[in-house]
Amino acid sequence: MTLVVPEGQQNGRAVARVVPLRLPPIYKPLARRRASAARERELRSLQDYAWRFQSVVAGIPGLAVSYGDRPVRVLQVIPRDGTLTELNVQVPVHHLPRDYSEHAHRIAAAMGACRIRVQQFAPGQLLIELLHSDPLREPVRLSTEPLRSVTDLIYLGRDETDQGYWLTPVELVHLIVQGATGSGKSVFTYGLLSQLVGIPEVLIAMSDPTGLLTRPFIGTVHAEWQVSDSANIDAHIDLLRRLVEMMDQRIQNLPPRRDQVEISDGCPLVFVVLEEYPGLIRAAAQVDAADKRKSGGKVEQIKGLVGRLAAESRKAGMRLVILAQRAEASILDSYTRGQMTVKLSFRVAEAASIEMLHPTGREEAEEHATSAAGIALLSAPGVKLKRIKTPWLGVADDGPEYARYWDLVTTYAARLPQEAAE
Ligand SMILES: Nc1ncnc2c1ncn2[C@@H]1O[C@H](COP(=O)(O)OP(=O)(O)O)[C@@H](O)[C@H]1O
Ligand SMILES: [Mg+2]
Repeated sequence: MTLVVPEGQQNGRAVARVVPLRLPPIYKPLARRRASAARERELRSLQDYAWRFQSVVAGIPGLAVSYGDRPVRVLQVIPRDGTLTELNVQVPVHHLPRDYSEHAHRIAAAMGACRIRVQQFAPGQLLIELLHSDPLREPVRLSTEPLRSVTDLIYLGRDETDQGYWLTPVELVHLIVQGATGSGKSVFTYGLLSQLVGIPEVLIAMSDPTGLLTRPFIGTVHAEWQVSDSANIDAHIDLLRRLVEMMDQRIQNLPPRRDQVEISDGCPLVFVVLEEYPGLIRAAAQVDAADKRKSGGKVEQIKGLVGRLAAESRKAGMRLVILAQRAEASILDSYTRGQMTVKLSFRVAEAASIEMLHPTGREEAEEHATSAAGIALLSAPGVKLKRIKTPWLGVADDGPEYARYWDLVTTYAARLPQEAAE
C-alpha cells in the first residue's frame, strides 16, 4: 500500500511524493498474536465497516470506475468515540469529496450511521466521518446585534460540517420558504426580520394574515406598508398595488447610465414579506367564488401583482420573501417560482414539494419528511443543495423566540415621529 504526499506546486502543477504506507496499526495484533475475544469482535465490526463501505460505493453509478476491480479501499478504520467513526479511504485520484458527499445519505444508511461527512485527506485519500447522531440537532443561536448596513451579512444557518451560510440583503434576491406547520418557518422569519430591522436603508413591507409578524411594528416607519387583516383581501391587494407602483416609479426615475436604483435612506431596500401566501390566495378565491367571478377576480389580481414584483423588482431595489406551507404549483406558477433564487424548505410531508423547489433534491426528500424543526434544505446561487440548521432567537430562560423578536423589533425599528403616530 502506498500513500501520496502532496509537496506543493511546481510550474503551476501539483507535485506529490509516493511513500510506502505502514499497515494500519489495528491490523497488526491480528497477525502477531491471538487477540482477545473482545478485540476480535471489535476488529470484525471495523472490518465490517470497511466491507460495507466498499460494497455500497461499488454500487453507486459513476463511482465504481477506474481503480482496478475495486473502486475504493479502506486503509484504516478509526473509532473515535460513541458518536463518531472515521474511515481513511483510498480512492481514484480524480475523485473528489463531493462525489461521495452527493451520495452521503445512501452511504450513511448502508453503514448504519446517522450521517456522513467527507473531507479530503490527501490526493486520492478521503476521510469519511460516520456520525452516529445528527450534528444539526443542537440549536444555532443568532447574535443579538442586528445588522447595520445593506452590505452586512444575514445569517441563514450552518450545515453539518459547521460551515455557515450568509448573504447580504442586497444578494437575497427573492427568497421562498416552505414548510409544514411547526417546521420552523416563523422562527426563521423572526430571525430574518430581526436581523434586517436595524438597517436604516431597509423598509419591511408585509402581507401578514396571521398578524403576528406585524404586531411589534406598530408605530414604526414600516407599519404603513404592512397589512394584517385576513378578512380584508382588498387591503392586501391595495398594498401589492402600491408596491408595484413604487417599483414602476423607481425604474422610471432611474438616472442616465444606471440600470438599478441606488439604495439610500430616501430609497430604501424594500423587503416584501408575504406570510402564508397560499392562504391569501385561497381567501381571495372564496371571495371570487361568492362574487361568481370567472376572470379578473381577486386571485388573478394578486397573482398578477406578485408575478410582476418577482420578475421586475430586483433592479428597483425590492426583494420578495414568500412563505408557504407548500410551494404549490397552482398558487405559484413556474415563472414566478423561477425568479426565487434562494430557496429554503423546512419539513414538508410530500417529496413533490421538495422537488418543486430543489429539482435535485429527490434523494433528500424522503428523509426530510421527518426532519426536526429548524432543519431546512437550502438552494441558493453557489449553493447546490445543503441541509442546514437555521438560527433561532430563543434564550433558554428568556421566554419564547417570539418575545425576543418582539424586543428586537421594538428596540431597533425606526419609529415614526410622535405626532405622526397619533
Ligand atoms: N431553528 C430552530 N431551532 C430550534 N428550534 C426551532 C427552530 N425553529 C423552530 N423551532 C421550534 O419549533 C417550533 C415551531 O416553529 P415555528 O417556526 O413556529 O413553525 P412554523 O412557523 O413553520 O409553523 C418553535 O416554537 C420552536 O420551539
Ligand atoms: Mg408559522
